[in-house]
Amino acid sequence: MTTRDKLTLATLRHRKKTQTPITMLTAYDFPTAQIEEAANIDCILVGDSAAQVILGHGSTLQATMDFMIAITAAVRRGALTAFLVGDMPYLSFHVNTEEAIRNAGRFMAEAGCDCVKIEGDRRLADTVRALSSATIPVMVHMGLRPQAVHQFGGYRAQGRDAAGAQRLIDDAKLMEAAGACALLLEAVPPEPAKIITESTSLPVIGCGAGPHVDGHVVVVHDMLGLTAGPLPKFVKRYGDIRGQMSAAVQSYAQEILERRYPAAEHCYQMEPGEAAKLRPAE
Ligand code: KIV
Repeated sequence: MTTRDKLTLATLRHRKKTQTPITMLTAYDFPTAQIEEAANIDCILVGDSAAQVILGHGSTLQATMDFMIAITAAVRRGALTAFLVGDMPYLSFHVNTEEAIRNAGRFMAEAGCDCVKIEGDRRLADTVRALSSATIPVMVHMGLRPQAVHQFGGYRAQGRDAAGAQRLIDDAKLMEAAGACALLLEAVPPEPAKIITESTSLPVIGCGAGPHVDGHVVVVHDMLGLTAGPLPKFVKRYGDIRGQMSAAVQSYAQEILERRYPAAEHCYQMEPGEAAKLRPAE
C-alpha cells in the first residue's frame, strides 16, 4: 500500500527543476500496475505497444480506442497515485482535431489519465494546440515513432545525422510553443537529446535517448525478461520472468501427470460424518 501523494504535472516540472530523475514504465494490466505503484514508479504509460506485447501483433497499429481505454482503466485501478499516461492509438488523432479531442477526452474521463501521449512531428502542432486548448495535457512522442514504422521503413534510430537531429531539436521547440506538457524521445542519440532537454522547460522522458534526459521509460515486458526474441539496444534486462513462468508452468503440468497435484491440502473437506452418508449414483 503506497502512502505517497498523487503525482501531477507539477511534480514532474519540479523534478525537472531540481534535476531529480523521473521513473516511468509501461503497464497494461491491474497486477503490474499494483507492482509498479508499490515500487513508487513515478509515471505509468499504458502504451499502444500493448498490441505487440499483450495481443501478439507485429506492430502497434492494431491497438484500438476501446481496447486502450479498457486496459488503461485497469491500470488506473491498480495505480492510484502514479502519473498515468494514456497512449492515443494509430489514427485516433489524425483525422481531425474534433476526433482527436473526443478520443483524448475518453482517456481522461473514462480511464482516469493524467495526460495523453501522441506520436508526432511538427505537422502535429495544430493537434497539440487543440488538445491543450481543450484542457487535455499532451505528451509528444518524437524520434522513432512506431506508428510511422511503414514510413520510416523499419524501427530505426532517429536524429543520427546533423540534419535529422536539428529537425528534432526544432520540432521540440515547436511542440513546446504549441502547448505540449512533456516530451518523449525514442531511439535518439544522447547529443540531440541533451540539447532538447536543456533548451526546454518541459520534462523530457527518454526511451533509448541516453543519460541526459529528465526521466526514462521502457516497455515493462522487455526489462522484466518476459519478451521473447531480441530487444532494442537500449533495453537492460532486470529479470527473467519468462524463464520463471516457463519453469512454473512445466512443474504444474508435470505434477498433474504424476498425480502429485492436487494434494490433500488443496482439497475441500466435507463436514465430519457427512461422507459416510453418501450412496453410489443410481
Ligand atoms: O507504446 C509504448 O510502449 C511506447 C513506449 C515505447 C515509449 O510508446
